[in-house]
Amino acid sequence: MSAKRVLSGIQPTGDIHLGNYFGAVKNWVHLQDSYQCTFSVVDYHSMTMPYVPAQLRENTWSMVFQLLACDVDPKNLFIQSLVPEHTELAWVLGCITSFGELQRMTQFKDKSDQLKESNKESFVSTGLFFYPILQAADILIYHANYVPVGKDQEQHLELSRNIAARFNNQFCTEEKPYFHHPEPLYTETPKILSLADPNKKMSKSLGEKHFINVFGDPEIIRKQVKTAVTDTGSGPSETMSPGVANLFELLKACGNQQAHASLLSDYQQQQLKYSQLKEAVAESIIALCAPIKERYLLLRADENNIKEQIRNSSSEIRKMAQKTMREVKELVGILNV
Ligand code: AMP
Ligand code: TRP
Repeated sequence: MSAKRVLSGIQPTGDIHLGNYFGAVKNWVHLQDSYQCTFSVVDYHSMTMPYVPAQLRENTWSMVFQLLACDVDPKNLFIQSLVPEHTELAWVLGCITSFGELQRMTQFKDKSDQLKESNKESFVSTGLFFYPILQAADILIYHANYVPVGKDQEQHLELSRNIAARFNNQFCTEEKPYFHHPEPLYTETPKILSLADPNKKMSKSLGEKHFINVFGDPEIIRKQVKTAVTDTGSGPSETMSPGVANLFELLKACGNQQAHASLLSDYQQQQLKYSQLKEAVAESIIALCAPIKERYLLLRADENNIKEQIRNSSSEIRKMAQKTMREVKELVGILNV
């Protein structure tokens, strides 16, 4: 039997942050050893929020280099817009998805609220509304079994499964379903919180202080961790606050198990100084990010070759998407050329 298939995507909206890294990208790198993986820089998705055209193109390449620096294999990496069959399939899937299903998507509600808050007259596009269908197309077009993502994508994955089920129901016989039902794969840290506001997830869209940039300046990282919200009270209490728990999670995710165990035992004995915890967290993050940043610079120095490689891998990966699209057209009654 052939290896199970994995697909995931990330938007080129800026630098990779620790939420992206510990929630998804680090897992992508591990999964490459055991599965047939395809990972995408989903540039069409980034058109759903206000953006600057020239910056989108630069951010798309920059995200490619950042993922490679994190150890994603170039053969597994492609740019979504270089495989136009994704948008073609999205149209077909859109025609079997109800308006009500999309209205229930919490990310749509959050992002449209965010837009309205930033400017009362702002424009909420139908692209933003349609976005989860394009995501379903990204996944289903490769018959992915697993999708490594952060917890915030749970609802989109559920929608992808519903769309697959409806497609099979409508266009296939029971004995011969066409699409798999893709399952999410989570890491031990599927939801990293903002250090500045641990009631919210770490995210670029909340603003600078709400995310730690893997490619950021160590001094800024130190400052961000130093000013992280811990307890609202005066010191450690019986139940661990979300801010403190988040710092412990980061320490563990960085691989600093020893410091994690010893600081946790201090905490349990009510002897933990938050300054010590913060220092250990900041230094572990900086140590984790340093070699990634170094690799990024090396890759950038070989920019043209690497861009060519990604164009080639995109056209290789496109062959799978073209095959699916031909088969889908047969099933749904659209002409094939
Ligand atoms: P995005 O930057 O929204 O394209 O997200 C890329 C990947 O990172 C997705 O799989 C997200 O679920 C994941 N992700 C984003 N923010 C977080 C977070 N704070 N904690 C864990 N995973 C996250
Ligand atoms: N919606 C995802 C996010 O905001 C990005 C994404 C687009 C994705 N297409 C995908 C993730 C396909 C997994 C699979 O993070």
